Amino acid sequence: MTATFDFSGQRVFVFGGTSGINLGIAKRFAEAGAAVAVASRSQEKVDAAVAELTALGSESVGFALDVRDAEAVASALEQHGAPIDVLVSGAAGNFPAFANDMSPNGFKSVVDIDLLGSFHVLKAAFPYLKKPGASVINISAPQAFVAMPMQSHVCAAKAGVDMLTRTLALEWGPAGVRINSISPGPIADTEGMRRLAPNEKIAEQYKGSVPLQRFGSAGEIGDAAMFLSSDAAAYISGVVLPVDGAWSVSGAGAAALAMAQQHARS
Ligand code: COA
Ligand code: NAP
Repeated sequence: MTATFDFSGQRVFVFGGTSGINLGIAKRFAEAGAAVAVASRSQEKVDAAVAELTALGSESVGFALDVRDAEAVASALEQHGAPIDVLVSGAAGNFPAFANDMSPNGFKSVVDIDLLGSFHVLKAAFPYLKKPGASVINISAPQAFVAMPMQSHVCAAKAGVDMLTRTLALEWGPAGVRINSISPGPIADTEGMRRLAPNEKIAEQYKGSVPLQRFGSAGEIGDAAMFLSSDAAAYISGVVLPVDGAWSVSGAGAAALAMAQQHARS
């Protein structure tokens, strides 16, 4: 069952919103009546996402940009203009690799997209956020607080993202802007899980390690994003909300370790 929220007349901007979890979030807001803008690197993916959101009845626009390029991010936000009721920062990169096998540039590329890119998005968007009332959501990951082998870059980057969330909740609270992180567990049919669980055996191990015994869906992350952006969450800011079937409580580290052991053997 889909949760019901009404975002009619609101403007939502999802960075990294052209596939996977973030597109799932964008689609939920579109279904709830919002005008949804998306941005990512590939013009083809941007066009496809805008077409999908338009088909859902949303007044949708898209921007092809790299969040590592602060000027491009600022220019898209200027073109889009104010007000932004809901801002989602979810662009990210990931590949499984042991730290010893990773070049400095490999580590840097993920930190630059996830952490520095989030800073670019958040800082450039602030002047356009509805004040008071805007909701900002950073898409984090369990790697931010559960150490996982082959994920040193993501662990470092997403821990930084969560501290950005907490710090900006302090700095932006007086302006009436709320900011929270959502930390999704393993989500079905996503690029992230294709990379972390590259075969059926590893995918089953991951699934079994989730206390709810299944992968989540992008729509379920969208439901959490709508809740956090709704009046029902008007006093919630500065939190990191796991939406993960209790995976981060105990299963995450074990599943990742099993994956790393298999990679090491292969
Ligand atoms: N193992 C080790 N290093 C890797 C790697 C892997 N599997 N994949 C990429 N790298 C390294 C590259 O070798 C390069 O380092 P080098 O210059 O020292 O050789 C560095 O990472 C950057 O790679 P490049 O392909 O030039 O970066 P990019 O900016 O085009 O792409 C990535 C960024 C690497 C994160 C890419 O995987 C990406 O675009 N991901 C987006 C989609 C995604 O990851 N989705 C999951 C959601 S989190
Ligand atoms: P995905 O489909 O690859 O989503 C990543 C999105 O970001 C895409 O739209 C991608 O589009 C965009 N992007 C990547 N690099 C970018 C850059 N440099 N500049 C601008 N846009 C960029 O992967 P996903 O698995 O759904 O992950 C989405 C988010 O959820 C990420 O923040 C990830 O860390 C988080 N997460 C995922 C899982 C999971 O189970 N999948 C679990 C926990 C957290 P382009 O290629 O066009 O740029």
